[in-house]
Amino acid sequence: MLSSAREAMSNAYCPYSGFRVGAAVLAGSGDVFSGCNVENASYPVSLCAERGALSAAVAAGEETIAAVLITTEIGKPCPPCGMCRQALAEFGPEMEVVMVSSSDEVAQHALSDLLPEMFGPGFLKGDEGVDE
Ligand code: THU
Repeated sequence: MLSSAREAMSNAYCPYSGFRVGAAVLAGSGDVFSGCNVENASYPVSLCAERGALSAAVAAGEETIAAVLITTEIGKPCPPCGMCRQALAEFGPEMEVVMVSSSDEVAQHALSDLLPEMFGPGFLKGDEGVDE
């Protein structure tokens, strides 16, 4: 996963921030899918690496994600943004989030610790304590 994320990171399109990010997700099948951040001249259109990797997995037919690994070029492990935490949680609320710095320093957390009290699909179905 680390080499996959770093390879994707080398292809990051980030002319505006100069901040390269690579991500690799370990899908339910055991396959690994990667992504990088893809920025846009219309800044809010930019896509994070984590959601790129997630989209690749889902497009390949994956339904669950067990872990995500995130790489950057900074000297300490970099956590996923809030939007990516929410996007990832849809496919694995219990997944592990591994962050690796440029000097191979590693931090690891359960996604449920990074996104407590998450909004999930259960709320839409009314099976999370919502009154009918
Ligand atoms: N970025 C990611 O790819 N993932 C994150 O979780 C945080 C931020 C990207 C978006 C943008 O291209 C650059 O990092 C600076 O915010």
